[in-house]
Amino acid sequence: MSLRIRAVPAIVRGETLVQFVLAKESSKLMDEASQFGFYGKAFSTVYLQTKNVKNVKAALLVGLGNKEDLNGETLRRAGAAAVKKLESLYQKQASILLPQVLESASEEACALAEGAALASYRFNKYKSGKEEKGTVAALNFVSSKKGEGEVKKGIRLAQILSEATFFVRDLVNEPPSSLPPRRFAEYVQKVAEEGASSNISLTLYDKEKIEAMGMGSFLGVNRGSAEPPVFVHLHYKPKEFKKSVALVGKGITFDSGGLSLKPAESMETMKMDMGGAASILGTFKALAQIKPNVEVHGIMALTENMPGGKAYKPGDVLKAMNGKTIEVLNTDAEGRLILADALSYAVKQNPDVIIDIATLTAAVIIALGSQVAAVMGNNQELINQILKVSAESGEKFWQLPLVKEYREGLNSPVADIKNISSTRKEGGSIVAGLFLQEFVKDKPWAHLDIAGTAWSDKDRDYFSAGGTGFPTRTLIRYLLSI
Ligand code: BES
Ligand code: ZN
Ligand code: ZN
Repeated sequence: MSLRIRAVPAIVRGETLVQFVLAKESSKLMDEASQFGFYGKAFSTVYLQTKNVKNVKAALLVGLGNKEDLNGETLRRAGAAAVKKLESLYQKQASILLPQVLESASEEACALAEGAALASYRFNKYKSGKEEKGTVAALNFVSSKKGEGEVKKGIRLAQILSEATFFVRDLVNEPPSSLPPRRFAEYVQKVAEEGASSNISLTLYDKEKIEAMGMGSFLGVNRGSAEPPVFVHLHYKPKEFKKSVALVGKGITFDSGGLSLKPAESMETMKMDMGGAASILGTFKALAQIKPNVEVHGIMALTENMPGGKAYKPGDVLKAMNGKTIEVLNTDAEGRLILADALSYAVKQNPDVIIDIATLTAAVIIALGSQVAAVMGNNQELINQILKVSAESGEKFWQLPLVKEYREGLNSPVADIKNISSTRKEGGSIVAGLFLQEFVKDKPWAHLDIAGTAWSDKDRDYFSAGGTGFPTRTLIRYLLSI
């Protein structure tokens, strides 16, 4: 990570001071700022060359808005606004004064640092030439001796969360031909090696082993691709734990739609179709540092979905690892097919909880837009827990109902189930959820459809255009909450 954040005992002499202020707060600096029309509106900024603060030549005021509307997300966005402004001023570093508006100093420092760090992300691996843009190198959080421990704790969590998020964004942003399953697997191996001393182990299954396990549904999707599939089982097993969680990720490294080919425009972003698997890998990167007392399985099915000569065809029947047969009517509904096997595999590990993460349906974008993901499942307690931690992370979720009556549309005349519903586009995200439910037995399970949120078309708050890292911060917070 390029942006260094640390706690310091006092304002660094000569450095710009960043102050976060509530709307209409009164102070000498605010009097000065009001001359420029700044009143502390949320995320507004004003840069003052001031004589009103000792040892400081300039102050950057960042508005927090009204106290009543304030929460962690406000602080994350304010942290981002500060970094963006410092970048535009070509300032390399700054001292940050904590506003002390949240009860917990560690949460406050975490939210500000997280927003600031996340906003500094750039993917310029493939840019030749230098970018004409300021970069902030260091932020110094001013904290008293007494508060230092809490501030440091918050900053450390922010660092872990943002590093994991950057890693996921990098993977999602990587061009699809540079990240076929075997290359993705190299990143998995690296994470496993780094985590080897923290109780992380890895089993990689190649095509032959995937065949031996009977994952006919996963293999069907792979058939049209020149790249072999990889099945990943990462395993974090601490000395002591009470609960075991399986995270299951969709890892389509490129989704052309297969023979049910996507239109050109819809394919433009389909390198992101491994966002679910990537967020699990990011979570494992963090696991080695946060070391929670919970067993975690990281299960990913990695393949391209391509229309090559050997491609699976509409009308084909595939047999999943759990013995269920699936009639494929649309090869673009491939995510649920690879998850059918990945979920069956997860059930066999006998975890207490299964959570799958997938860029599964375009329908979820129609339903909830690009800032809210869908959560559904068979266990309300688990869903509530996910909703609770997601409110802390600022990654928004909304629950969709698994309407039993819609299951009928998946009945097939030739197999146990079809991969698309007779009702076609109606309730597409729910139907996909109902399909997945067939493969989790009676395990407490939640399904996260992140098709709208894993990718951003434009820069916004602490996101830059491209991969967002969603929902890595929620997954990490969830594991910490157990
Ligand atoms: N990967 C797509 C879903 C998607 C769409 C993700 C847009 C991100 C942005 C998925 O494999 C897909 O194509 N789903 C189809 C299913 C349909 C054929 C039942 C869809 O949603 O259109
Ligand atoms: Zn598809
Ligand atoms: Zn897909």
